[in-house]
Amino acid sequence: MNNLILIGAIGKNKELGLNNKLIWYIPDDLKFFKDCTINHTIVMGYNTFMSLPKLLSNRKHIVLSHRNIKLPDEVLLFNNKESVLDYAKKHNEDIFIIGGASVYKEFLNFCDKMILTEIDSTCNEADAYFPSFNEIDWNKTILKEGEYKSLKYKHVIYKRNL
Ligand SMILES: NC(=O)c1ccc[n+]([C@@H]2O[C@H](COP(=O)([O-])OP(=O)(O)OC[C@H]3O[C@@H](n4cnc5c(N)ncnc54)[C@H](OP(=O)(O)O)[C@@H]3O)[C@@H](O)[C@H]2O)c1
Repeated sequence: MNNLILIGAIGKNKELGLNNKLIWYIPDDLKFFKDCTINHTIVMGYNTFMSLPKLLSNRKHIVLSHRNIKLPDEVLLFNNKESVLDYAKKHNEDIFIIGGASVYKEFLNFCDKMILTEIDSTCNEADAYFPSFNEIDWNKTILKEGEYKSLKYKHVIYKRNL
């Protein structure tokens, strides 16, 4: 089992986002995301970084971009996937891949664990989707089921069958 963990929230059709924003805002899910990732390293694509209102507290940020963009001093900029994989090998701690669509797709094959919030809703206008994966390759555990304003959701852990 390696130390890279994908974490995200998806709709019934694996919808992730629209216009570089989240589709659903479920306070309990945002808290769940915070509880999972607090005091850890989080890895995200440039678009997801730009979608954040501010840096997320008490988390080391790694942002992926092919360009030499200017980022706040405390944020690490990596130019390729291999730099993240090297970093993960050298750091004996959980590292969370927090999106977006392109980054989940690149790292899915390198992760043995996913923490997904599965939201019982759809969004036809979505323009960002979580990559498809074969459930047969994963062992699924439902951590918690919840409901917010008629929106049902589940926190689910997938561990890869090794
Ligand atoms: N529901 C959720 O849990 C969740 C979580 C996160 C994000 N989202 C949503 O996902 C959407 C954003 O996804 P996205 O696919 O458009 O963008 P993204 O994955 O956040 O960022 C894509 C950008 O990251 C950089 N990048 C990606 N892979 C790279 C690599 N291997 N090496 C170097 N740079 C790399 C590139 O930036 P450059 O162009 O600068 O090179 C690329 O254009 C938004 O709607 C967001 O709200 C949803």
